[in-house]
Amino acid sequence: MCGIVGYTGNKAALPILIGGLKKLEYRGYDSAGIAIGGPSAFILRRCKGKVSALDKLVSSEKINGKTGLGHTRWATHGQPSEENAHPHTDCRGRIVVVHNGIIENYIALRKKLKAKKHKFRSETDTEIIPHLIEEKLKKEKNLLKAVRKAIADIRGSYALGIMSSDEPGTIIAARKDTPLIIGLGKNENFIASDIPAILKHTRDIILLDDMETAVIKPDSVAVFDSAGRTVKKKISRIRWNPSMAEREGYRHFMLKEIFEQPRAIQDTLRGKLNPAKGYIHLEDIGLTVPYVKKIRKIFIVACGTAYHAGMVGKFLIEKMLGIPCETDIASEFRYRSPVMNKSDLFIIISQSGETADTLAALRMAKKRGLKTLSICNVIGSSAARETNGMIFTHAGPEIGVASTKAFTTQLIALYLLTLYLGRIRGAIPRQEAVRIMTAILNIPQQIRLILRKSKAIAKTARKYSKKRDFLYIGRNLNYPIALEGALKLKEISYIHAEGYAAGEMKHGPIALIDKDMPIVAIATAGGVYEKLLSNVQEARARNGIIIAVANTGDKNISKSASDVLCVPVTLEELSPLLNVIPLQLLSYYIALYRRCDIDQPRNLAKSVVVE
Ligand code: M6R
Repeated sequence: MCGIVGYTGNKAALPILIGGLKKLEYRGYDSAGIAIGGPSAFILRRCKGKVSALDKLVSSEKINGKTGLGHTRWATHGQPSEENAHPHTDCRGRIVVVHNGIIENYIALRKKLKAKKHKFRSETDTEIIPHLIEEKLKKEKNLLKAVRKAIADIRGSYALGIMSSDEPGTIIAARKDTPLIIGLGKNENFIASDIPAILKHTRDIILLDDMETAVIKPDSVAVFDSAGRTVKKKISRIRWNPSMAEREGYRHFMLKEIFEQPRAIQDTLRGKLNPAKGYIHLEDIGLTVPYVKKIRKIFIVACGTAYHAGMVGKFLIEKMLGIPCETDIASEFRYRSPVMNKSDLFIIISQSGETADTLAALRMAKKRGLKTLSICNVIGSSAARETNGMIFTHAGPEIGVASTKAFTTQLIALYLLTLYLGRIRGAIPRQEAVRIMTAILNIPQQIRLILRKSKAIAKTARKYSKKRDFLYIGRNLNYPIALEGALKLKEISYIHAEGYAAGEMKHGPIALIDKDMPIVAIATAGGVYEKLLSNVQEARARNGIIIAVANTGDKNISKSASDVLCVPVTLEELSPLLNVIPLQLLSYYIALYRRCDIDQPRNLAKSVVVE
């Protein structure tokens, strides 16, 4: 996720771009850049770090150009650095491009362009775009036509802002699967990834749709569909106040991030699965086939929510690969004496990639000579830099302290890894891999169905928001989800909550149950469904209040539960991905009714960089 802003009009572009980028920093902030039309060539300034560093860099310069593009980056391909910062240019610096998204076929395109003598200066996927346009312009005289020809060659997602020194005052915009808006002003127009970037200047916007392109000039905006036909677009008037706009109208970042999960999962999966061929593209994590075949044991180490993802990983790895797997809390792992061998694979999971305990555990494994892998949401982070390979979760910046979209994308990374290893080792037959992949690809849509029921979940939350204690129970793959549900509730609502393996209840915790105790039971279809139902009956018999997470249409559970949070049916192995969603929403709404500081709960920090 990156932030784009563009301006063309009769004012100096620089302050408008810098101001806009500052509003987009929540989308990423590892490097930033601008390109502004100058008298003969573009003035291009880029730097590593936040927008404030870019602001400082240009503060002493007189840059008066009235058309420009700006970008704040969240690294996906290539480390955060000046060279990898946007805008990127063609060989002659006459075309500049800012991009948000992922170009899946960039390696093949780069190869072709290099063969035609194009010079590349960065490691990014984006840089192929200006070169591709440069190439198309050899036959096309008009920039828009060249852009349309170029994007026809691209596979992946993009929001693009493009300028050429041959067409001063013009910005071309294009979009597929990544947001881009056009802001309308008087003798000036804008483009942006999101409303806050331009809200200071205009409240009239056009939402660009997938496969549309637009030509933006100071006094005109023309939008075209994929066939090049003019499209008449609706102009929307934005009534949000500036702080609401940063959260895209959501009341809290946490809620926004919960609702972003279908997109985050799609981005994490993008280009990785090929169900038609039963193939998983994960070659870039650097595990060679002979090495994969020799793995004897897998360690997964993480903290908090990431640890819960790791627990699901253990179930998957042991069940689907038959490889012993130990998942541990990093702060415990680093002070015990784990028995590790060089042929073991060591995985850390971390949203931030900076969690001190997780990094300490990683360094321990490296000292013992293990191959290491990170599942991480920040490209240039310590975790990403210090491991041999990385699976990047494309959640985008997670701002709410309570981790939501990072968790589901971490799970997706674990499914990808398990399938990849399973295919290489022959542990997962092709047909089975295809069956799982097909179901995974359906998950974003199924999550959308759950999100559409958020009002019903809010109603349940209201009923129980004054309770003092909660129990969460689940079994097998959904035991970690019970732990995660309880963690979400306690961290944002300050209600005491315990997650338990349902079968463990009678060994102690059942003593807690009385008529005031809500028990959230994860009871979706699968091998332990009936056992879970028995555990629910036992809790019911002690007057406990049952809130069940169950499959839509399950009649058994509705007999025992006071409330049912419905989720669609998926494969049992994938059920954690759906079951966690209503639990995130339940916690969110309970905290909302208790008027808690949801995005910044007391005593917590987003990234725990000290022991
Ligand atoms: O950045 P990390 O994934 O390494 O962070 C780990 C935990 O601190 C984090 O998951 C924490 O538990 C969250 N606040 C939970 O919502």
